Amino acid sequence: MTAYDAPTAATLEKAGIDMILVGDSVGNAMLGYDSTLPVTVDEIASHTGAVVRATDESLVIADMPFMSYGADTDEAIEHCGRMIKEEGAQAIKHESGPHTVELTERLVDVGIPVMAHLGLNPQRVNEVGDLTRQATDSQAARETLDLAKQHEEAGAFALLIEHVPANVAKTISEAIDIPTIGIGAGPYVSGQGLIITDVLGMGDWVPPFAEQFADVQSEMDKGVEQFKQRVKDESFPREGHYVEESVEGFNEIARSAALSCCPTTARQPSSSSGNAPSHRSGWTGASNPPRTSGLAMCRRAQGGTSYQPTARSRSRLRSTRPSVLVAHSRHR
Ligand code: KIV
Repeated sequence: MTAYDAPTAATLEKAGIDMILVGDSVGNAMLGYDSTLPVTVDEIASHTGAVVRATDESLVIADMPFMSYGADTDEAIEHCGRMIKEEGAQAIKHESGPHTVELTERLVDVGIPVMAHLGLNPQRVNEVGDLTRQATDSQAARETLDLAKQHEEAGAFALLIEHVPANVAKTISEAIDIPTIGIGAGPYVSGQGLIITDVLGMGDWVPPFAEQFADVQSEMDKGVEQFKQRVKDESFPREGHYVEESVEGFNEIARSAALSCCPTTARQPSSSSGNAPSHRSGWTGASNPPRTSGLAMCRRAQGGTSYQPTARSRSRLRSTRPSVLVAHSRHR
């Protein structure tokens, strides 16, 4: 199954999924691209690192993106080596054709395990036109079988066979000794694979061979909507979600800060709170600060110009992210 991030990879490993592919499908599934073609080596490297950090047992395979291999062999070996050496993947996958047979041999020679990907190759979308079933005539089926044998001979440890007739996948599986993982290739293979977002119901386009096993999208919609509503009706945050500290002398500071920040609206901390103004009890006049769209808020904060992150907000962003990861890994 594919995964592109640490929490998902941890979920797959917990479920005992044998192999995790950090697919270039990350392009459509996570990065907002229309196809896998724009995905870069840096992007795959980053997602591979995240998956590796969250797993101990599952085999992590980095999927080599379009144009990271196939033109220059030395460069391709370096890109593949980076996934193993710097990101900790245990193997790489490439979309395979006659041009990847020798590359497979070279990679295996230097100690990089290779999964070859036959049948539908989405990186060839501009050539084949769309993502339809492949190997549907006898010549194409024959070529696919030959490529399977050539990649086995070159040292590939497994084949991924995508979107071909089940009988073609069966013939290939019977003709070679390495495992075949099918995605849209029927039941007569060594193992099955799917793209995680299709499995979880998060994709906006689902291939005909996939089955949805959960409806995560509707859970996400629900969670976000509930958060928004609870903030709007002021039932979040509630006691227990925050603290108010009694700090000697802070009342005065808070009062003058409120005055100097908003002289025209003269917002003042209420004396009843006895501490720094909370967003709810600390305002006089209107019960809450006015709500407005995020973009309008940014514009106003920037004196009417378009939003530019300040040095402070940039460093705050940088410093929050690692702690989120740390919190996650502690929970595992
Ligand atoms: O990138 C990907 O997710 C793939 C699928 C066919 C598994 O290659």
